[in-house]
Amino acid sequence: MKIGYFQFNPVFGAKYTNIKKVSQKLQDKMLNCDLMVLPEFFNTGYNFISKKEVQNLSEKIPEGETTQALMSIAKNKNMFIVAGLPEKEKNYCFNSACIVGPDGFIAKYQKIHLFFREKLFFTTGKIKLNPIDIKKTKVGVLICFDWIFPEAMRTLALKGAQIIAHPTNLVLSFYQSASITRAIENRLFIVLANRWGYENRGKNSFSFTGKSQIVSPFGEILACSPSAKDEIKIVNIDPSKANDKNINKYNNLFKDRKPKFYV
Ligand code: ACM
Repeated sequence: MKIGYFQFNPVFGAKYTNIKKVSQKLQDKMLNCDLMVLPEFFNTGYNFISKKEVQNLSEKIPEGETTQALMSIAKNKNMFIVAGLPEKEKNYCFNSACIVGPDGFIAKYQKIHLFFREKLFFTTGKIKLNPIDIKKTKVGVLICFDWIFPEAMRTLALKGAQIIAHPTNLVLSFYQSASITRAIENRLFIVLANRWGYENRGKNSFSFTGKSQIVSPFGEILACSPSAKDEIKIVNIDPSKANDKNINKYNNLFKDRKPKFYV
């Protein structure tokens, strides 16, 4: 199975420009991928400074133009896409990801661990953590800061996730290192799709750390990118490598857990 990411530098508020860039890059004739992961808020940029701005840039999933554009790319390229975008559902806005494939919309996930000022503008996600079936492979989706709560990825792993598709807008570089541990402790693949660049929004400005990467269940970095460059990386993996949770003859990552000591 070919899994990959597109790291780039979304322009804040320029939805059309961002979607067009993704559409052109992913529809390159040479690109061959089964599961492509895009960054968090790939279509709008990250650093919202008012509820009004969030309302104006958020969309319904799957009816909105962003999910519809991704559905058309997925169909044309016969691939699956996981992408972060701000979602409007009734009167609430969520930091969401949509999952689409060649046959259309599949599912969405809404970030459950909101980071910093996201708490001013977004509602905590309402969807339980469950992997999705993509080409007979179980794919779990998390969004950025979800990484720092190990229970989130563990829950997906315990429910059978073999790959974690992880759209991010990381402002620190901890997760590029920590994802190696997350992959080892859960024995699964991680596609960390980060963005790069600086969003100048006055006193709320942020730089993003790039360095997207794909990690194997044994903590090997299968692909990685620099801190400030547009880049698509795709690697060929065998998802079944995530199935065997034995560490050695005596130890198993899941069977050796001691939940009664964890309360
Ligand atoms: C983050 O959750 N975007 C840091």
